[in-house]
Formats: sequence, structure tokens, C-alpha cells
Amino acid sequence: MASLWHVSIIVLVLLGGSDASQVAPHPRQSQLDVSHKKPLQTFRPYNIAHRGSNGEIPEETAAAYSRAIEEGADFIETDILASKDGHLICFHDVTLDATTDIADHAEFAGRKRTYEVERANVTGWFVVDFTLSELKSLRVKQRYVFRDQQYNWKYNIITFDEFILIALYADRVVGIYPEIKNPIFINQHVKWSGGKKFEDKFVETLLKYGYNGEYMSEDWLKQPLFIQCYAPTSLIYISNMTNSPKLLLIDETTVRTQDTNQSYSEITSNGYLTFIREYVTGIGPWKDTIVPPENNHLGPPTDLVARAHALNLQVHPYTFRNENQFLHFNFHQDPYAEYEYWLGEIGVDGLFTDFTGSLHTYQEWTAPHQPNEGKECRGTPA
Ligand SMILES: *[C@@H]1O[C@H](CO)[C@@H](O)[C@H](O)[C@H]1NC(C)=O
Ligand SMILES: *[C@@H]1O[C@H](CO)[C@@H](O)[C@H](O)[C@H]1NC(C)=O
Ligand SMILES: *[C@@H]1O[C@H](CO)[C@@H](O)[C@H](O)[C@H]1NC(C)=O
Repeated sequence: MASLWHVSIIVLVLLGGSDASQVAPHPRQSQLDVSHKKPLQTFRPYNIAHRGSNGEIPEETAAAYSRAIEEGADFIETDILASKDGHLICFHDVTLDATTDIADHAEFAGRKRTYEVERANVTGWFVVDFTLSELKSLRVKQRYVFRDQQYNWKYNIITFDEFILIALYADRVVGIYPEIKNPIFINQHVKWSGGKKFEDKFVETLLKYGYNGEYMSEDWLKQPLFIQCYAPTSLIYISNMTNSPKLLLIDETTVRTQDTNQSYSEITSNGYLTFIREYVTGIGPWKDTIVPPENNHLGPPTDLVARAHALNLQVHPYTFRNENQFLHFNFHQDPYAEYEYWLGEIGVDGLFTDFTGSLHTYQEWTAPHQPNEGKECRGTPA
């Protein structure tokens, strides 16, 4: 059955070609005029649609993002990588193996490589070895075998420009949450003219579509944006180019930063958080580092959220997933119990979820109204 998000995909495909920016370098003024659009909610923690609604539809596709918007996402989240010819694309892994049909393309059989990626040797078909038009010839699939496979091979990889247009063309204000993914690796393998770096191209793209402004400024509320990265030097590097809010992602406790080779304890120390606060609005930690589990039961929470909040840093943990294999036993196989714990007991400011619809339903049940809105219904025009 045709639904709204299918219609919006069709619009995008018509618009798109291989690079939407060539057809529509700037959305029409009417798209940017948000005065008639329902604004971003800012009174409760943000619902961040991790790689789109990828619990249902293959990650990072136009269909997954459109579905997330339909389900109530405050922000749509994406990972930005670069093609061989320097185009920015929405894709999570540096290799195409896990989520595309690359293995079925005989013409690309000879392009398998082994490269060092963040201090490990990885073998596969790397996005940086393919042009955008080659990447566009692939079809994508669902990452997990226990999720719905019916959308496999229906959709293709989209560009950063196409992703931005999905948010700007939405019928309400929807924020974007792009990640500068693997910047050390990308800058090693992809070269741009004029000595530009990956981070330069990333920020240029955002500025081209009018994204700017500090957290909660008038400009930010019109086109909400959080920039995320695991590499602190990339966030510091772009701080002179954009005043948009940035978040430092924090990996497993055993993983050192890809650029500065710092340990988890170093980057979560009070001293370091005080330093990085000059550049970031918050941190995005893996949730199991905030509350380390023992034998799949929650252990005692660390003080990371309290220390970050004391420094006025937001905390957006990742990744919330409905399935039993991702839920700790304390939650009785109930994803709502997990949201209750993180929103009610830990108290975080946003959550990266694979199931935007579930988080939205939970929040509509538990926090449907702004605290001080009186008798007026939320969404009533002023
Ligand atoms: C990757 O492989 C190369 C060539 O075999 C080797 O020199 C290098 O030490 C390896 N790197 C890692 C991180 O294992
Ligand atoms: C930003 O610009 C200022 C002033 O030009 C300079 O001192 C500073 O080093 C720059 N910072 C970065 C990260 O480039
Ligand atoms: C990163 O730091 C660890 C711990 O000090 C050290 O063993 C390792 O050699 C460092 N790696 C690099 C690439 O500098």
C-alpha cells in the first residue's frame, strides 16, 4: 500500500539522479521557510533515528530516513564517508561487504583490498575504491538476519546532499545528526582539489544548505544540527568553520581514539571534559560504558552522566534496539523498560535508537506535553 514515505522517496528519486545537488543546489525558499512547519520539540530528550528507522528498513537509505520522520524522529542520524571521486555518501562501514550486493558484481571482483583501519587490518571492498556512480549501481540490504528482509535490494546508497534534502523537505522541522566517520582513514585514501580535507568538504556541504548557529539559536531551531565524531581533532579542526553544536562520540572502554590515541579513561576525565567543552555541546557514549553490564545484567552506573552534566555537557548514549539479543536481562525483554531506566533513572538528553517509532510512542505516553503549556494542546498554533 502506498504511504506518505513512499511518495517522498519518489520525489527524491526524481530530484536525485546520481547527485541531488546537481539538480537542486539549493532548496527553494519555500522549503527553508519553516514558519508554517511544526517546530522541533525541545522540552524532552531527543529521539535520534540511528541510521534512519533501520530496525525496519535497511540502514542509511532514503526509505529508512523517511520512515523515521513519519514515526516521529526529532533527528535523523547518518554516517558520512567519501567515494573515490570525493563525493560524500551516507554509509556506515568502510567496506561494502555487510550491507550491499557488491559480492554479486563480477565487474568489481578484482577490487577487494586489505587496508589498515584504526590499527586493524581489514579486508573487503572499500567505499574509497569506488566512484559515486559505481556505488549508485549497488543495492543495499538489512544488516541483521533477524530483522525484516523484505526491503533487501530495493534501495541504493544516498549522498550527503540527498540526506539533507530529506530533512529539509519534511513537513515538520526535522534535525540532522551526521557523523564525520573514520576521518583518518578517509583523508589517507581520498584526495580533494586545493588540498581540502574530508572535514572541509563535510562542513562546506552543511553551509551550502544553510546549516549554522549555536545550540538553540534562532538559526539552529530552523535547521537543527548536531555534528558528531569519535576523533576530537576533527571537531577541533572544524570549530573555526562552523558554530553548529558538536558532540564527541565515546567508544568502548578498550578502544583508543583514532587520531590522538587516548584511552577511554583519559577522554572521560574531568580535565579532558573541561578542555573539550570549549568545542562540544555534549558527548555520545556507548551506553554500556555508562552502565557496564555483568553477565548481561546491569552493573552499578558510573558517574559519567553526572560529571558531564556538572560541566553543562549533554549526554546522548547509543544504541537502543528493541530485540532481546540487545536488551539486558533487567529489562524483562521490554524495550520500554529500557527507555524508562535511561530517561527516568539515568537522565540523558537524547537517545540513538534503531526503533524511532518505539521511542516516540514511549515518550508520547510518558511526556506528551511541555511542562508549562497550561491547558493548550501541544502543537496548537500560537
Ligand atoms: C597489517 O598488515 C601489514 C602487512 O602484512 C603489516 O605490516 C601490519 O603490521 C599489519 N597491521 C596491523 C595493525 O596488524
Ligand atoms: C582558529 O582561529 C584562530 C584565530 O585565527 C586560531 O588562533 C586558532 O588556532 C584556530 N583554531 C583552529 C583549530 O584552527
Ligand atoms: C597508543 O598508546 C598505547 C598506550 O600508550 C601504546 O601502547 C601504543 O603504541 C600507541 N599507539 C600508537 C599508534 O601510537
